[in-house]
Amino acid sequence: MFESKAGILLVGGLGFFVFAFVSNAVVPILMYQHMPEQTAEQVVNANLMYQVEDLQRRYPEPFKKYVGEKPTTENVAAMLRHGRDIYVGEGCWHCHSQYIRPVSNESKRWGPVARSVEYQNELQRPVMFGTRRVGPDLSRESGRRSNDWHAVHFHHPKTVSPNSPMPAYPWFFDNDNPSEPNRRGLALMTYIQWLGSWLEVSPTYENYQPLPDVEVKAP
Ligand code: HEC
Repeated sequence: MFESKAGILLVGGLGFFVFAFVSNAVVPILMYQHMPEQTAEQVVNANLMYQVEDLQRRYPEPFKKYVGEKPTTENVAAMLRHGRDIYVGEGCWHCHSQYIRPVSNESKRWGPVARSVEYQNELQRPVMFGTRRVGPDLSRESGRRSNDWHAVHFHHPKTVSPNSPMPAYPWFFDNDNPSEPNRRGLALMTYIQWLGSWLEVSPTYENYQPLPDVEVKAP
């Protein structure tokens, strides 16, 4: 068998296939089997609650109409699920990645390199790595921009970012008005403010610490 070139290629090819399967499927399964996948309720954290309370203060009427009297773990989790579905449905992942790679100084630009544990939750099924990077990576977006910046940006990106190729999303608002986000707009802002909220990020992204296990209480 090893006398012929074809035989060597066959054995080599099969060998690499087995190696790839073991390193990319079997090893990760063994590494993370003890770590249960988190639900949307379980990923609601204090940083995110801070942003949702801000949404309620800025948009009291729409918030009351589309979310509820006040933010709770349950209605915030429902918003996260809805926001993620919109992110998928609108194809945001065509232009935005959610994966900071350990190459090209990406951590200088966007923040700490992504770790597998960050994808161990319901909202990352399927994972939102994305396909291209027309726009910036969004996995550390939480707290980077204010909610009203996002509202104006979704309504008409060029208002805050001249020359932006990002499409406008007027259907995230009632009466075509950036100060009246509807359920879709509120849900997407919640989802965007969640991305990276699990890290306690310093402004320079250096010396970041994972968030301590704080108990989240509804206000
Ligand atoms: C055609 C490609 C494209 C699509 C589709 C797209 N974006 Fe963008 N996005 C960009 C580009 C380019 C930028 C950078 C310029 C700017 O700020 O508008 C950007 C910027 C952003 C920012 C600001 C990031 C920052 O902090 O600077 C957010 C948040 C964002 N996009 C979210 C979304 C969401 C959510 C969707 C889906 C509803 C979406 N984008 C769809 C291209 C796109």
